[in-house]
Amino acid sequence: MISRPSLVAQAGILALLSLVSAGPCDIYAKANTPCVAAHSPVRALYDSYKDVLYQVKRGSDNQTMPIYPLQAGGVANASAQDAFCVQTTCVISIIYDQSGKGNHLTQAPPGSAAQGPNPGGYDDLVLAAGAPITLNGKKAYGVFIQPNSGYRIDNTTGVAKGDAAEGMYAVLDGTHYNSRCCFDYGNAESDNTDHGSSDNGAMEAIYFGTGDGSASSGSGSGPWVMADLENGLYSGYNHGNNNGDPTLNYRFVTAIVKGEPGNNWAIRGGDATSGTVSTFYEGQRPSGGYNPMKKQGSIILGIGGDNSDGAQGTFYEGVITSGYPTNDTEAAVAKNIQSAGYGVTSLTSGPAVNVGSSISFKVTTPGFTDRFLYHTSDNVINTTVVNSNSPSALKGQASWTVRTGLGNSMCVSFESKDVPGSYIRHSSSRLRIDSDDGSKLMHEDATFCPEAGLNGQGNLIRSWSYPTRSFRHINAACYIAANGGPNFFDTTNSYNNDVSWLIGNSFA
Ligand SMILES: *[C@@H]1O[C@H](CO)[C@@H](O)[C@H](O)[C@H]1NC(C)=O
Ligand SMILES: *[C@@H]1O[C@H](CO)[C@@H](O)[C@H](O)[C@H]1NC(C)=O
Ligand SMILES: *[C@@H]1O[C@H](CO)[C@@H](O)[C@H](O)[C@H]1NC(C)=O
Ligand SMILES: *[C@@H]1O[C@H](CO)[C@@H](O)[C@H](O)[C@H]1NC(C)=O
Ligand SMILES: *[C@@H]1O[C@H](CO)[C@@H](O)[C@H](O)[C@H]1NC(C)=O
Repeated sequence: MISRPSLVAQAGILALLSLVSAGPCDIYAKANTPCVAAHSPVRALYDSYKDVLYQVKRGSDNQTMPIYPLQAGGVANASAQDAFCVQTTCVISIIYDQSGKGNHLTQAPPGSAAQGPNPGGYDDLVLAAGAPITLNGKKAYGVFIQPNSGYRIDNTTGVAKGDAAEGMYAVLDGTHYNSRCCFDYGNAESDNTDHGSSDNGAMEAIYFGTGDGSASSGSGSGPWVMADLENGLYSGYNHGNNNGDPTLNYRFVTAIVKGEPGNNWAIRGGDATSGTVSTFYEGQRPSGGYNPMKKQGSIILGIGGDNSDGAQGTFYEGVITSGYPTNDTEAAVAKNIQSAGYGVTSLTSGPAVNVGSSISFKVTTPGFTDRFLYHTSDNVINTTVVNSNSPSALKGQASWTVRTGLGNSMCVSFESKDVPGSYIRHSSSRLRIDSDDGSKLMHEDATFCPEAGLNGQGNLIRSWSYPTRSFRHINAACYIAANGGPNFFDTTNSYNNDVSWLIGNSFA
């Protein structure tokens, strides 16, 4: 005999379904832990939200453009960004707060630990097209934080201060991280300054990566979700290892940190596509000034509270709540994130640059089109005139084999024809060749994502790890260059031509 589900069970299923179809901030609001900040360039985080998600600024004329969801509660209109940014570069200049509290994130100012590279010590803004994904098949762009980039608001409304309760989650890329301080999202100092041990507990932010060089760690080799509580990353009670905090290297990771008065806080997380999150730590605060907390209520993204700006990571969406969300509320949010349908999409565009092919890079800047990219005998990359009459040594120096990207298999690396085992990489923004030492840094520095050339010819060769930067020749030397910036090689003058290369057959 088949038993009929009881009316109570049916009502329960209906309640769960309505919870799942609601946006993350609808779920938190219903549970009396409302969002006081809600940031995402990929989708609306309330069912009814149809206002601007983020603003992009383009390099060609410094004009800005607001990007809205396709519909209330929907995915960002990525094609509006693509149309606005065609044949130029765009950066994300504002990530709007969807909560109505006005806690918008903008270019981070300098802090006590670091000055950014821009005038006034501001950090870099990120490339607007740096982190493409799909949500249920619709394209959208996340925030690809490269070292020296970050966003912040110091003077917030409604964000927890002192020991007040808060929760937060973020959806991140579990394959993009490093071991430098600090890829954070959450609550930080409002004066951008770490005043030493008196500031223990001045922060309560999600951290994601392999730590900051201190003992803080979880199990396995990382990356881990930890909490940046100021003057330390914490994976649990101790400033050290918590074996209960697992390596989370899923392509999409949900990370949670929450804290409440009465000496209680938690770290949680999981695979963002699984619809579940687990608890990695829940219990008392660390000793040494963390109870009560001294939260200051600013919001940071991609940096530490003192603007430590050496970290990298990718952010897709995140919120801060007022009040300590329950496990059940977070379970419903995890289901919503699963239903958003995070998926990967191509990182390349333009003419195909096929793995295994033997190629050369020809300059397209008018007046210099007889020049090709080559490596010198001291291993730097310059351009010079190369043709069929060139000496065979030079032909070898100007010839490359396309390999699967050493740091990301969706992009490519370029192996030298005449020095096998050496690859084009960037180092302090200069292009050079180095032998593959197997390190994460070498692999990432040697990974490039070809896109359509900005002047309508050939390809742009974008750095995977610094997406604002692409192969550029200037004065016969080659760099990874941004479209505008503090370095002489970032000049906007002739940028589109200097970064567009015709990929042809190799000479050797
Ligand atoms: C955009 O603004 C920056 C500084 O604010 C300036 O250096 C650059 O020349 C401007 N670009 C254009 C195309 O106006
Ligand atoms: C998305 O942006 C494009 C380009 O600006 C625009 O034509 C289109 O109407 C937008 N779609 C929606 C649903 O707003
Ligand atoms: C912070 O914002 C409030 C409300 O807008 C304003 O009154 C106050 O002057 C601001 N404080 C600072 C330091 O900017
Ligand atoms: C949350 O769930 C974990 C198990 O995943 C449990 O240990 C913890 O006690 C729960 N917290 C609360 C406040 O119920
Ligand atoms: C490569 O370019 C740099 C910078 O312009 C220059 O100093 C150097 O002499 C060049 N190397 C060769 C071998 O031409």
